[in-house]
Amino acid sequence: MLRGPLRFDYYFCPVREMSNITVCARFRPLSSKERQDHGDAVCIQCVDSETFIFKDEKTEELTYSFDRVFYDKSEQTDVYRFLAQPIVQDALNAVNGTIITFGQTGAGKTYSMEGPGILECDAAEKGLLPRVVEGIFECTKLADETSKYSIKLSMVEIYMEKVRDLFDLSRDNIQIKESKTQGIMLNGMTEMPVKDPPEALLTLSKGIGNRAVGETQMNVASSRSHCIYIFTIQQESTKDKRARTGKLNLVDLAGSEKVEKTGAEGRILEEAKTINKSLSALGNVINALTCGPTGRGNHIPYRDSKLTRILQDALGGNSRTALLCCCSPSPTNSLETLSTLRFGARAKHIKASPRVAYEDKCIRELEVFTPVKRELRDKLLNELQVSLDIEQVQILEELFIQEGILFDPCSIEESELANEDVASQTISSLQLALEELLSTIAELKKENEVLMARVTAAELHHESISNSSLLVSISCNLGLFRDWLKSLFHFSINHYN
Ligand SMILES: Nc1ncnc2c1ncn2[C@@H]1O[C@H](COP(=O)(O)OP(=O)(O)OP(=O)(O)O)[C@@H](O)[C@H]1O
Ligand SMILES: [Mg+2]
Repeated sequence: MLRGPLRFDYYFCPVREMSNITVCARFRPLSSKERQDHGDAVCIQCVDSETFIFKDEKTEELTYSFDRVFYDKSEQTDVYRFLAQPIVQDALNAVNGTIITFGQTGAGKTYSMEGPGILECDAAEKGLLPRVVEGIFECTKLADETSKYSIKLSMVEIYMEKVRDLFDLSRDNIQIKESKTQGIMLNGMTEMPVKDPPEALLTLSKGIGNRAVGETQMNVASSRSHCIYIFTIQQESTKDKRARTGKLNLVDLAGSEKVEKTGAEGRILEEAKTINKSLSALGNVINALTCGPTGRGNHIPYRDSKLTRILQDALGGNSRTALLCCCSPSPTNSLETLSTLRFGARAKHIKASPRVAYEDKCIRELEVFTPVKRELRDKLLNELQVSLDIEQVQILEELFIQEGILFDPCSIEESELANEDVASQTISSLQLALEELLSTIAELKKENEVLMARVTAAELHHESISNSSLLVSISCNLGLFRDWLKSLFHFSINHYN
């Protein structure tokens, strides 16, 4: 295979020791409906800024502690400063970061993430998203002159288990890929370069306008999809031309919902089922990460949903991650609040050790290059490096890979991953076939027992049971078993071809 002379090499530096992800709880003020139902009653009692007591009619008092608890009077700025600001600062130093809002429908996830509106709202009510935008651009201004930053924005939603590009609705089934160097990637997702906060906010508001939102009995503007805002922050050193990139993901999850409470029907019901399924896949991943053996032996079911696959880096360690568990304080929703708190308490055990990925332009010697070609190549490279900036070089590299001129460093990984996929699909299919086989055997056993009982009964009571009908029954069962084996055989043949 032709190996190209120009490519980026990545190497990683661990940032810090393993640390647990940051988990905070936030209780919104009681809604007017909750006040109607239960007056001012609440199911939590504040102890301090990290601890509170949960109590409702059904359970005994439970004490919960998180990195920080934001009560109903907390300000949006408190949440930003504690939860997001350190992650923003790290992302500017090429450490990937993820901030997730989680919780029951109507609990305040989107309010915490966006605020009442992304473009115009009371300054105090601005959510994490506009504050992150401001924070990023402020940090780039403060950086020393040798660092040049470029910021790109992407927005996708996972709607009915499909990843949709919110900046280009024609891309409604984006594929998720994994590269050993760059982690989880969304293939072909739009990346919008933004140069200042107003441009970034305008771009984000267009994406938000495309997001799936619906009305339920629990929330007039309920998010019907999981939404992911992705900031790609590239820092290039003008001194040595080294570049490094930090990715910051803000994830506004759709809320878990009890269908009888939300009054979901038709499309809203289908959406609710898909949302609940992917949230339980998220719960399974958190369980697998926090219990059982660590290391290669422990299978983490990231591939069970698009959500967990996209969050693989955030949960699997290579990201600074913060989780905001949004809750209602009302006794009406105490069960859902308890389940959100349990989720948060478990997630707190996840450990992370994010790394910085450096990219170095380097020249690879090529076996097939003759000295003349090599000389020409070096000349061309030198000229390119002088006249092009890093972004143009990247575009060229991508083009060369597409044309087959350059070797794609991800292709081997992709084929390895594809093989892994086929292997895991085959294992699941065989497991399914085995389960079917076992249930058929169980059925046949039962039939056999019935027949045996009939024979015994006939013998005991000297009943004349027709031998022929017994034989017909046995041969019928055997026929069923034979057909089933045949179909299993055809399934295997087709599957392996
Ligand atoms: N901290 C808060 N202060 C004031 N109002 C809030 C707060 N949190 C939430 N709300 C209000 O509660 C309502 C529901 O909030 P929001 O839409 O953020 O819920 P959600 O968790 O995103 O629900 P879903 O999962 O259905 O999308 C909104 O009207 C919002 O303005
Ligand atoms: Mg929402």
